Amino acid sequence: APAPEVVADGVLTVCTSLPYRPFEFRQEGEVVGFDIDLAREVASRLDLEAKFVNTDFDGLAAGTPLNDGTCDVGVAGMTITGDRARVLDFTSPYFNAAQSLVVGASSGVTSLDELSGRKIAVQEGTTAELYVTDNAPADAEIVTVEKPFEIVAALRDGQVAAGVYDNTVVGGVVERNPEIAVAAEFDTGEQYGMVLKKDGSVELVRSINAILADLRSDGGYDAIYEKWFGS
Ligand code: ARG
Repeated sequence: APAPEVVADGVLTVCTSLPYRPFEFRQEGEVVGFDIDLAREVASRLDLEAKFVNTDFDGLAAGTPLNDGTCDVGVAGMTITGDRARVLDFTSPYFNAAQSLVVGASSGVTSLDELSGRKIAVQEGTTAELYVTDNAPADAEIVTVEKPFEIVAALRDGQVAAGVYDNTVVGGVVERNPEIAVAAEFDTGEQYGMVLKKDGSVELVRSINAILADLRSDGGYDAIYEKWFGS
C-alpha cells in the first residue's frame, strides 16, 4: 500500500525529465513515452492517477523534488548507482542500458581513445558523464550540456568531436539525424529504476516492486516495451 499522504488526493505525482526519447518526451503537446506508460500503469494498479512534473535531471538524481514534496516518485531513465542510492530509494530495475559513443557519420572515429585533446559532450549529472570522466583520455575535454538533444546540436555544429549517452535512446537519435553515427558501445551493465525519497515509504517501494514483478509476468511490461521499442 502506498503511504497515506500519497493516497489522500488519489494522485501519484511523478517527476520525470524531458526529453529523453523514447522514455519521456512531448508529442503533440502530450508527455508520452516508455517511462510515462510504465508509471501510469503502476499508478493505476495503486488505484491512483499519475500526474507528471518535468524536472531537471541533475536535481532529480540528487533527490531534490522528492525531498521537497514536489513528487512521490521519479522516473527518468535513471540508472541505479551506489552513489545515488545513498540519497534516493530505488525500486527494482525495469530496464537494462549501456553507453554509446556517437560521432559525426563521416568522422572515422571508432573509439574513445582516439579523442585525445578533443571535446566530448555528455548530459550533466548522468552516468555518461561518469563513464567519460573515468575512461576518456586524460586530456580530452568533457563538455556538459543540460539537455540530451544539445549533444546532437554540438556534434552537428562541430563544437565537439563526440558525445556519449545511453544506448537506449541513441537508436532514435541516429535515425532522426543521419549525419550522426554510433562509433562504439560500452557495456556498462546499467539498470534503470524508479526513485523515491530516501527512507520515505518502504511500503510504497514494496508495492511498486510487486507491481513491476506482476507487469513482467502478466504481459503488461511487454506491451509497453513493444509500443516504444518494437519494430
Ligand atoms: N541513464 C542515465 C543516468 O541515469 C541517463 C538518464 C537521463 N535521463 C533523462 N531523462 N534525461 O544518468
